[in-house]
Amino acid sequence: MARNKITIVGAGNVGATTAHIAATKQLGDIVMIDIIKGLAEGKALDIAEAAPVQLYDSNITGTQDWKETTGSDIVIITSGLPRKPGMSRDELLEKNTGIVKNVSKQIAKYSPDSIVIVVCNPLDAMVYTAAKVTGFAKNKVMGMAGALDSARFSCFIAAELDVSVEDIKCTLMGGHGDDMVPLPRFTSVGGIPVTELLDEDKIAELIERTRKGGIEVVNLLGYSAYYAPAAGAVKMAEAILKDKKTVLSCCAYCDSQYNAWGYFIGVPTILGKNGIEKVIELDLNESEQAQFDKSLAHVKQLAAKIDKLI
Ligand SMILES: NC(=O)c1ccc[n+]([C@@H]2O[C@H](COP(=O)([O-])OP(=O)(O)OC[C@H]3O[C@@H](n4cnc5c(N)ncnc54)[C@H](O)[C@@H]3O)[C@@H](O)[C@H]2O)c1
Repeated sequence: MARNKITIVGAGNVGATTAHIAATKQLGDIVMIDIIKGLAEGKALDIAEAAPVQLYDSNITGTQDWKETTGSDIVIITSGLPRKPGMSRDELLEKNTGIVKNVSKQIAKYSPDSIVIVVCNPLDAMVYTAAKVTGFAKNKVMGMAGALDSARFSCFIAAELDVSVEDIKCTLMGGHGDDMVPLPRFTSVGGIPVTELLDEDKIAELIERTRKGGIEVVNLLGYSAYYAPAAGAVKMAEAILKDKKTVLSCCAYCDSQYNAWGYFIGVPTILGKNGIEKVIELDLNESEQAQFDKSLAHVKQLAAKIDKLI
């Protein structure tokens, strides 16, 4: 039986960390591709050399040649400029649209049956770009943001309550930006609604920290986060490759759901071998729907810019 083949585009911080985590989970053989000569090759060799210690059997290779990515089951796009202190994700739009457009053409050529997970920013707009350029079925193109944002929210809740992170289940919606919509009503701690355990002000404080979670790390490091983003991307890849039917917020295509009509935005989904197998429709209250609508308006603005760029 052939192993799964995972291509990771971009061998920078997020790409290489994604490769390492995916390898340790033995999700399949991994090809990393980058435009910088030697970068993907060097990172792949280093990860391969950790295998005898960490005991994984994946073949890990690096390349600049798209031919080596042929027939991938999953392609994870991390190629793109990251933020620096003081930058918004939207400021990356023009440069990263060009990169994602080129990369998406290669994916469509060499791995026409793959499922694509986009990681680069501005996330929702880059998913829109990849979907348009590859022309793949809408369930097969998605973005990683909810996995990270809910991990951040969970991390802060667990620390506040001094409980295991394993017990926190979060739902977040909306675009991957300051107007994301964490949903305390759909967040639980060992099955207990978080609203029973923390007061409104504390929850509001943790939501604000989650919304600004990306820039908090950028301000500390001088560059963008990568351990938690990579873990989020691998969680999605694992759900798909193992057909786990995982319930997870992802940037996914919506029609009538949440009145998004034709846009990719963060929503709760079921992830399995067919990619986004279902968008779960929650009965949002007025305030939640208003926050989602605001976020959707922003996503639409960026998509209009993309339509002019590609
Ligand atoms: N979705 C999220 O939650 C999330 C979280 C963190 C970072 N990000 C985004 O992920 C992206 C990558 O971040 P990073 O920290 O790894 O950046 P990085 O600079 O470390 O790595 C990016 C890599 O992409 C490569 N690249 C550029 N153009 C390419 C092309 N056409 N083909 C192949 N490779 C190419 C670069 O050479 C570089 O090695 C950024 O856009 C960042 O904003 C998203």
